[in-house]
Amino acid sequence: MSGDYTIRHPRMDEAKELACVHVKAWEQAYSGILPEAFWNEQAYERRIESWRQMLADPAHRARTRVTEADGEVVGIAQIGPPREDDIDVDHELYMIYLLAAHHGSGAAAEMLTELLNDKAASLWVFKDNPRAVRFYRKHGFEPDGAEKDLGEEENDPSLQGVLEIRMVRG
Ligand SMILES: CC(C)(COP(=O)(O)OP(=O)(O)OC[C@H]1O[C@@H](n2cnc3c(N)ncnc32)[C@H](O)[C@@H]1OP(=O)(O)O)[C@@H](O)C(=O)NCCC(=O)NCCS
Repeated sequence: MSGDYTIRHPRMDEAKELACVHVKAWEQAYSGILPEAFWNEQAYERRIESWRQMLADPAHRARTRVTEADGEVVGIAQIGPPREDDIDVDHELYMIYLLAAHHGSGAAAEMLTELLNDKAASLWVFKDNPRAVRFYRKHGFEPDGAEKDLGEEENDPSLQGVLEIRMVRG
């Protein structure tokens, strides 16, 4: 991995830092896909609250990793139990985000390895997110045919037509 990157567990008091990366990465990656409401001030405030709750729980901290570069959090990743029972895996990758300036650094692969090693897992990714799909393929994930429309999932007409596909590593 090039540069000075540290992969570590998050600390309890880092909700703001993690929310900042979360919302910034959404803006960088999804501005052509999702409405701006996903990364406005209210979205950021909601993320802070959500991260506060997660970081207060040692079990959540144990299955989360951050990437630090030059003393700043620049990436986050989290696994958990799969949200569907129609697949035979013990883990789901809930999120992996690296700020765009750090894409290609190897830090995302490092977070993935720390969380999962080579274990079987599933994940959901936007169909129209070629960089992430390629990254997951490199790490052994393949689409399993499951697909959902975020608009229906969230019952939000503004998200109609935004498709997610499931990728699985056996
Ligand atoms: C997904 C993510 C964590 C991967 O980390 P990364 O450092 O970018 O990953 P890598 O550089 O190791 O791999 C990306 C691959 O996609 C390729 N790629 C880049 N742009 C691409 C494009 N438009 N189409 C297809 N492949 C593309 C890269 O060349 C690289 O493949 P290679 O190593 O064979 O050359 C990171 O890009 C990210 O945080 N993206 C924004 C948030 C996101 O989409 N998260 C996933 C949500 S499900």
